[in-house]
Amino acid sequence: MPGHFITFEGGEGAGKSTQIARLKTYLESMGKSVVVTREPGGSPGAEKIRSMLLSGEARDLGPRGEAMLFAAARADHVDSTIKPALERGDWVLCDRYADSTRVYQGEAGVDIDYLKLLETAAVAGVRPELTILIDVPAKIGLSRVAQRSQSDNSGGPDRFEGDAIAVHERRRQMFLDLAKEEAYRFEVIDGSQDQDRVTTAVQEAVRENFGSDLTHASDKNARTGESSG
Ligand code: TYD
Repeated sequence: MPGHFITFEGGEGAGKSTQIARLKTYLESMGKSVVVTREPGGSPGAEKIRSMLLSGEARDLGPRGEAMLFAAARADHVDSTIKPALERGDWVLCDRYADSTRVYQGEAGVDIDYLKLLETAAVAGVRPELTILIDVPAKIGLSRVAQRSQSDNSGGPDRFEGDAIAVHERRRQMFLDLAKEEAYRFEVIDGSQDQDRVTTAVQEAVRENFGSDLTHASDKNARTGESSG
């Protein structure tokens, strides 16, 4: 597919959304067409499943059932949003993807082989070329989440934020282990440093991974240019 697919992963309060917004601006300044999306959600069907999952309404299904719902949401997101964007030649920046299922539902006790089966079915071959893991100690991440919900009055923690700190620390370690296992597509960035430094590190990672694709006009612009002579 002519587009590019970058996912962002990390624990709660890692600063993914800030960095995704900044990367979007950076790519657009180079003439790229960028789609920002997130999971669970990112398409009308998947957003419905998102609210069931994050409200805790789906908790009674148990971790295996929740994993299936995350996979169902992902399948719709891939079909309705991600794949069409990549086919158009856009850059897709996605806040969480299949690695979050491996970590969150894996930590909750779901067998990894089962999770990989669901993943294969859900992603239908659409896998990220680059995954940026923003790593922060659970304590720092959770205090950012607490501050954020105080300032925007968004109420208490959601289904997953409310877990014990030891759970958050285990997820952090699982993300780091996964990044080691699949090092060919991961960049791990220290999210406890100043946000501007994180932004610089993200841009460096993108330049390293996509090199010449970045310095040229976007595929779309290049095609338009060619056809107009
Ligand atoms: P969200 O409010 O988007 O959190 P964040 O800003 O931290 O990304 O909520 C997504 C929550 O769902 C988050 O706690 C992680 C969890 N999650 C899973 O458990 N499995 C998954 O496959 C995905 C995509 C998210």
